Amino acid sequence: MKTAICYYSRHHGNTLKVLQAMAEEGDVELIDVTVRQSVRLESYDCVGFASGIYGFAFQKAVVEFARQYLPQRKPVFFVYTYGGAKGSGAKAAADIAGEKNCPVLGEFSCKGYDTFGPFKLVGGIAKGRPNKRDLEKARRFYRDLQARMNQA
Ligand SMILES: Cc1cc2nc3c(=O)[nH]c(=O)nc-3n(C[C@H](O)[C@H](O)[C@H](O)COP(=O)(O)O)c2cc1C
Repeated sequence: MKTAICYYSRHHGNTLKVLQAMAEEGDVELIDVTVRQSVRLESYDCVGFASGIYGFAFQKAVVEFARQYLPQRKPVFFVYTYGGAKGSGAKAAADIAGEKNCPVLGEFSCKGYDTFGPFKLVGGIAKGRPNKRDLEKARRFYRDLQARMNQA
C-alpha cells in the first residue's frame, strides 16, 4: 500500500515525529506542504493530512492542499498534535474530504509539547510529548489502517 501524508509541522516538529513513526511501518511518503508547491496524489492508495493545531484548527496550508490536490473518492486519514485544546481538530480537512466523497479511514491525535505564548513562561505544557507511548500508538494506528486497506 502506497501512502502520501501531506503535513505542516513547525512549532517543535511534534507532528513530524508522529508521522515518522507511522512511516516506519510501510511505504509512506511525507510531503511538507511548505516545500512542495504541487503534488499528484492519484497514484497513492490512500492520503493522510497532518498538522499541529494552531488557533484551535489545522494549519490553513494543509487544508488548502486537500482542497486543491485530494482526488475524488480517495481514502483519507487525519493526524494532528495539540498542546491542550484541540478545538475543531481535523474538521476543516475532513469537510473537504466529505465534499470529494472520500472515505475517512480514521484519525490519530496526541498531545505535543507547546511553548506558545504564555505557556513559554511556565516552561511549556505537554512536556515530553509525543512520548514513546504516543509513537507506539501512532504505529499501531497506521498498521491497523494498512490491514483494513489490504482487506478491502
Ligand atoms: C501559534 C500557535 C498556536 C497554537 N494554538 C494551539 C491551540 O489552539 N490549541 C492547542 O491545543 N495547542 C495549540 N498550539 C500548540 C501546538 O498545537 C502543539 O505544540 C503542536 O504539537 C505543534 O505541532 P508541531 O510541533 O508539529 O508544529 C499552538 C502553537 C502555536 C505555535
